[in-house]
Amino acid sequence: MSETKRLAGEKAIEYVEDGMIVGVGTGSTVAYFIDALAGIKDKIKGAVSSSEQSTERLRSHGIEVLDLNATGPLSLYVDGADECDPHKRLIKGGGAALTREKIIAEASETFVCIIDPSKQVDVLGRFPLPVEVIPMARSLVARKILALSGGQPVWREGVVTDNGNLVLDIHNLSITDPVALESTLNQIPGVVSVGLFARRGADVVIVGGEPPTLL
Ligand code: 5RP
Repeated sequence: MSETKRLAGEKAIEYVEDGMIVGVGTGSTVAYFIDALAGIKDKIKGAVSSSEQSTERLRSHGIEVLDLNATGPLSLYVDGADECDPHKRLIKGGGAALTREKIIAEASETFVCIIDPSKQVDVLGRFPLPVEVIPMARSLVARKILALSGGQPVWREGVVTDNGNLVLDIHNLSITDPVALESTLNQIPGVVSVGLFARRGADVVIVGGEPPTLL
């Protein structure tokens, strides 16, 4: 239980409008958003979910989960983050849902990110950067990451993503140019997606507190 996460999640409800299909992220902060969304579920058409975990929680509240291919572009995406810099660029993927999260963020007009104050940093990289990889490319990608970024890739053993892939976490990075690093890592064959949300960062960041603050 985190009071600041709850306050951020509940504040994001203010961005939900009548008739919307809401993009929904993954994680403990988003869980508070989903619970609050249940209170206005008759107002929305449904949700597009970024993970099996969020799908289960949405359905447990009787919120219909829709396929992004059927909905087309979304007005609103609400998701948490592992780190957020002053330019609203993010590290995400602590919950291994980064690829679907990135897809929905890209499909959405407005990305509202909900965080507790501990997630705010001046420079991204203290949190190990998650990278989703095709299983057969795990070692290749790890070697390339080491050579290209200087960071230390560590296999998140035992974790398989909803897409059947693996996760490498890159430690010891100080990401001074997140857009460039995101592009560089995206080029490595076998990388499915990178947990840097710099090219498409958040539009609004809600930092949970009493009262919540906006970036
Ligand atoms: C999942 C994510 C989450 O948004 C991120 O890990 C933050 O989680 P939490 O709200 O539990 O702190 O990117 O892949």
